[in-house]
Amino acid sequence: MSTETVRPTTAAHVKRVTTQTLQAMRDEGTPIAMLTAYDYTSARLLDEAGVDVLLVGDSASNVMAGHETTLPITLDQMIYHAQCVVRGVQRALVVVDLPFGAYQGSSREALRSAIRVMKETGAHAVKLEGGAGVLSSVRRILGAGIPVMGHLGLTPQSIYKFGTYKVRARDADEADQTRTDLRKLAEAGVFGVVLEKIPAGLAADLTASVDIPTIGIGAGVGCSGQVLVTHDLLGLTKDFNPRFVRHYADLGTTVTESVGRYVADVRARAFPGEEESY
Ligand code: KIV
Repeated sequence: MSTETVRPTTAAHVKRVTTQTLQAMRDEGTPIAMLTAYDYTSARLLDEAGVDVLLVGDSASNVMAGHETTLPITLDQMIYHAQCVVRGVQRALVVVDLPFGAYQGSSREALRSAIRVMKETGAHAVKLEGGAGVLSSVRRILGAGIPVMGHLGLTPQSIYKFGTYKVRARDADEADQTRTDLRKLAEAGVFGVVLEKIPAGLAADLTASVDIPTIGIGAGVGCSGQVLVTHDLLGLTKDFNPRFVRHYADLGTTVTESVGRYVADVRARAFPGEEESY
């Protein structure tokens, strides 16, 4: 295979997904399919499969870099992943997570980070975690013409505040707070909000309470769309089996078995064969 990659030009018949497309899908009741992507090859496959939104998630910190949490990944690293993903996409909307430390300091810092993402990657939007506490940043980024996605419920960048990855907003106070945060984000003008790991009934209620799309992960079927970490869906993260993940493949086993056969062939001098040699 050539090592040279060429950025695919968008084929004339491919209609790009925009934030307006997502709003129209929500309005007509068509569920939105979103997945994470961190590299060119996967992004290409996911885009070809018809995923509407590719999220360059800060979960790259876990599944790409092997960190225990999403906190260590840097803005430069997120930008690198986003650049790779954008080169592989023709149709999907590409959303990039602003990582921990890139927006919490001030709205000015948040805008600077969002502008770097947009300028250096060619992605279409940014996502940041939190409600009332990040509203000034959300407004400032939106004011610069950059689409913003919110993220409520379990927000992994606050894991040390929560102390656990358990379901959020089970009690009335936190549910009310989430409802208020969602309303404020919607009023500010975000184009969608991820609802992570909250009770399905609450997520459905929240979804009905706003007129923008909600995208659930561990939040039941009543959201406007769903998102999963691609590595979980494909069975590549074998030691991570939360209830909300459905394994559509067991690629972990496929990879281990395939590579095991390759190793055996190399040891036995059964690879390469004549037909694989010059
Ligand atoms: O980083 C990520 O993968 C996410 C999804 C879980 C929504 O934020």
